[in-house]
Amino acid sequence: MSEARLEAWLDETRSFEPSQQFAASANAQPSIYVDAAADPVAYWRTQADRLTWTKAPTKTLEWDRPFAKWFGDGTLNAAYNCVDRHVEAGRGEKVAYHWVGDAEGESRTITYADLQKMVAQAANALSEIGVKAGDRVAVYMPMIPEAVVTMLAIVRLGAVHSVIFAGFSAEALASRILDSDCQVVVTADGAFRRGAAAPLKPAVDEALESCPNVRAVLVVRRTGGDVAWVDGRDHWWHDLVERQSDTHTYESFPAEQTLLIMYTSGTTAKPKGIFHTTGGYLTQVATTHYNIFDVKAETDVCWTAADIGWITGHSYIVYGPLVNGVTSVMYEGLPDSGGRDRWWKIIEENKVTILYTAPTTIRTLMKWGHQHPAAHDLSSLRLLGTVGEPINPEAWMWYREHIGSGRCPIVDTWWQTETGAIMISPLPGITSTKPGAAMRALPGIQVDVVDNEGKSVGNGEGGYLVITHPWPSMTRGIYGDPERFKETYWSRFPGVYFAGDGAKRDADGDLWLLGRIDDVMNISGHRLSTTEVEHALVGHRAVAEAAVVGATDETTGQAIVAFVTLKLSAEDAQKDQAGVISELREHVSRTISPIAKPRQIILTPELPKTRSGKIMRRLLRDVAENRPLGDVTTLMDPTVVNSIAVLMSESSGDEE
Ligand code: WTA
Repeated sequence: MSEARLEAWLDETRSFEPSQQFAASANAQPSIYVDAAADPVAYWRTQADRLTWTKAPTKTLEWDRPFAKWFGDGTLNAAYNCVDRHVEAGRGEKVAYHWVGDAEGESRTITYADLQKMVAQAANALSEIGVKAGDRVAVYMPMIPEAVVTMLAIVRLGAVHSVIFAGFSAEALASRILDSDCQVVVTADGAFRRGAAAPLKPAVDEALESCPNVRAVLVVRRTGGDVAWVDGRDHWWHDLVERQSDTHTYESFPAEQTLLIMYTSGTTAKPKGIFHTTGGYLTQVATTHYNIFDVKAETDVCWTAADIGWITGHSYIVYGPLVNGVTSVMYEGLPDSGGRDRWWKIIEENKVTILYTAPTTIRTLMKWGHQHPAAHDLSSLRLLGTVGEPINPEAWMWYREHIGSGRCPIVDTWWQTETGAIMISPLPGITSTKPGAAMRALPGIQVDVVDNEGKSVGNGEGGYLVITHPWPSMTRGIYGDPERFKETYWSRFPGVYFAGDGAKRDADGDLWLLGRIDDVMNISGHRLSTTEVEHALVGHRAVAEAAVVGATDETTGQAIVAFVTLKLSAEDAQKDQAGVISELREHVSRTISPIAKPRQIILTPELPKTRSGKIMRRLLRDVAENRPLGDVTTLMDPTVVNSIAVLMSESSGDEE
């Protein structure tokens, strides 16, 4: 669709109805909303039947605000639910993972029967080095099948995994190991990124200098080459795991047994150890994966393009797909490992049917140009999803047109590390969709948008997103810090969960997520969302990506500073930077209002992003306010922010 047509079209209508064909065979049918609304707790009890329980729960919800227990008297084994039961049901030859390496041509196919043996061996090995129920095990691994095997082996023993994204520094790793007192670490010698080997084991060695309680390290050989070795502490995977028996008898654990810890950044410097328990988490990831992605176990190939080091990887690469017994793609590399069309090759070769990724990645792929997807057969795709940040309508439309050929429904899914699973999303086949809107709470989930006083806002108004009733996969707390849990999530509006996100209800009552409220700016007493201004900027045909921050301003309280990367095709425009900048300011003024006009626009070749792909607005705010830059270790490329600081110091400030 041409740019002009797109604009005209967006003005006309912004809503897509589900196709008849999709609706007819969708897993979720309209009655689901009605049934769940009639009795949400009873609805979740029926969903728990997706799991195989050793002892079926007779209790559903025990709610001692803000502490919930779900299915409290049930017992089960998480790994059995993910793997063994599918093999027992005669589906052992079903592919669990098509693993695709960073290097082209490198791949592995792992069936459920293979996975069962691998998990049994790893569980036996972990037992041998003393891991038992309740222990915490740190996992610091690249995107290789052994990472999933490790997670499943840990939970099979009733132990708890704390997966730490392999891009974190030694210091970040150490603080997380210490916070939850992990005594065993599973890692690899290194990881491959665009063909180059990046070492991992040295960071573990460095971290462990300050973690005296870690007694064993299990190391997968991935990249080869020399590694430092601590005898007695370090074990090669191929020595310890591969000599184990490939059968393992599991035990069952209570539904409220802690399954996993996942660290996430809060407003303070100390990351929060968000923990999830077994029965509720598995129930909700399975239900959401089934209904939102409409998975058909026999035919679908799901690709969640995320890292297992983040909650999206946990819930939708590992647990959701495995509980549902489907086939997934697991990809080790970067979007351009081997070339800018790598993704589209992966989809074509593996006949991916369901693709789930982040808006920032979509914008990057969009910046590279639609000639790349156009050169591949993407006809296997039937559903697209996004997660992690608000998606701008332009990226949504590009995704729809160029990846989904105008026919695949798009599910914009809102959730958080804390919620464990998706909370707000359209259901394909039922809900109409709008470019940029997550639409409505899922069946069994109750949310509201409230004003400063905690009162519901009306249609057409914005406010704070809150979750008003407990849900099965809600975090059970911050590891070791129940007070901080109460304070962070349950005190802003007493009795309800405060998500920290702004949201609005449009005229139809549909939900739009506006980003973190810490990103909401106050300009001369007018509240403006950074996201709104970003949407406006990205809506300009010259702009590829934009990040907006509110910088302190003597007169207006805050002023808008925008960091903008132009499309490759706009190189010519870059020659006339002043012209482009004033044009963009006018464009924002026109699109939103003169109060939204950025004080300053910095044109930059790249934006600083965390390794999970989020734009680091905190750093940009520091740059915009000439503050010294804080911790940059989680950045994908720490040099980006320094070059932006230089551009900023060269910029003339208020362009009026
Ligand atoms: C943001 C990722 C708008 C939001 C699963 C939330 C979104 C934070 C969306 C959680 C979405 C996630 N639309 N914003 N569809 N999905 N967010 O913990 O600000 O890494 O609070 O979990 O991402 O990020 P987290």
